[in-house]
Amino acid sequence: MSWTPSSWRAFIIKQQPTYLDQEALQKTESELKAFPPLIFAGEARELKEQMAAAGRGEVFLLQGGDCAESFSDFNAKSIKNLLKLMLQMNMVLMYSTGKPVVKVGRIAGQFAKPRSSDFEEFDGVKLPSYRGDIVNSIEFTPEARLPRAENMIRAYNQSAATLNLLRAFSLGGFADINKVHQWNLDFIKDNPLGQKYDELSYKIDKAMKFMAACGITSETTPQLHQTTLYTSHEALLLNYEQALTRLDSETGEYYDCSAHMLWIGDRTRALDEAHIEYFRGIKNPIGCKVGPSMQGDELIELIEKLNPQNEEGRLNLIVRMGANKIAESFPPLLKKVKEAGKKVVWSCDPMHGNVEKSASGYKTRDFENILSEVKQFFEIHQEMGTIAAGIHLEMTGNDVTECTGSTSSPITSESLSDRYHTQCDPRLNASQALELAFVISDVISAQNKISKA
Ligand code: PEP
Ligand code: CO
Repeated sequence: MSWTPSSWRAFIIKQQPTYLDQEALQKTESELKAFPPLIFAGEARELKEQMAAAGRGEVFLLQGGDCAESFSDFNAKSIKNLLKLMLQMNMVLMYSTGKPVVKVGRIAGQFAKPRSSDFEEFDGVKLPSYRGDIVNSIEFTPEARLPRAENMIRAYNQSAATLNLLRAFSLGGFADINKVHQWNLDFIKDNPLGQKYDELSYKIDKAMKFMAACGITSETTPQLHQTTLYTSHEALLLNYEQALTRLDSETGEYYDCSAHMLWIGDRTRALDEAHIEYFRGIKNPIGCKVGPSMQGDELIELIEKLNPQNEEGRLNLIVRMGANKIAESFPPLLKKVKEAGKKVVWSCDPMHGNVEKSASGYKTRDFENILSEVKQFFEIHQEMGTIAAGIHLEMTGNDVTECTGSTSSPITSESLSDRYHTQCDPRLNASQALELAFVISDVISAQNKISKA
């Protein structure tokens, strides 16, 4: 039962690259081990408290970002646009729910990807699958698909630079609530959704002017001047995570200092395997995806392994069933966890159970299915008397065409090819994500009215 940052190595592990150059792997791991941590354990503890509040329904959890970050699309604009989008969604949700929003980006480390198959075949040529830029490259050539340990160093450096910019924007005045108008993104400003957001920002502006007249301004109240964006990713590549696992001198406990929050994917959550072993020993707030194959007893055992003390805010269960499965698969699990008295934070990932192939041949997701899964998630919780704590999205602040549908940015099967840029799964673009935030805020407001009546 004893745990160390490397005890996962004695277990079966899935979804890992085969590094041919073991010397390079060892060199990379020891270099990473000597690098500074990307986050401070105290911040992870702070997030755990916020997650606990989300689990009690006092705070709303908004988690989102790329399916996979990439080395090629690494620039200030994409980072800034994602932050702008999160700030906008934050305002929409906060204004309607009256609750604070804890913002967690799938960013600054979201590089490693699980794949449905180890190999890809094209025109009779068979090559290892692309596993994310931290492992290999997306081009379909034998050289590109070779796993390279040194990519971990580049992923670390990119994460550090990303985090640096996020911290600068969050603390340096960009997130000041008086700038609420300026977060509107150019390409949605003029559509009805941009206008809806503008109307909301005028109301917020008015409230801020009133508060200023009462003597409460960004100068007197730092909370109005700055924000916090926590980072998260799927801790899939355990060589990388182990190298960034550090002993916190304040508590004498281990934290994975590659991000504030880490989660286990749906394909690597087997109870007797390496990822569960690794996760049980780190003290960060953690998540685990819950897909349609999850069984009730299995889920209870998983909760007991990952959160034996039943600590609030420790474990986020990210439900990703699919719009046509959630009504059947989720309620029995929720009931079981509720009856067992387990403290977990339930959030909804309406992306990963709703992947389809468009008629034009693209991997896509339809906005209607995404909306439907989110709505059902809230309804199921309402009926069970449990808390729908938040949402987990694949989204970008850029104007891409990867998911079909929505009213604000209607994308058809044919128009997917216009700006289909994702490195992996299709993301909501900024207007689709903002539209979803408005829908969620309507759902929450309606539920609050019912429970008050
Ligand atoms: C993901 O979140 O990118 C992912 C791969 O999800 P899942 O493990 O739920 O399939
Ligand atoms: Co994905």
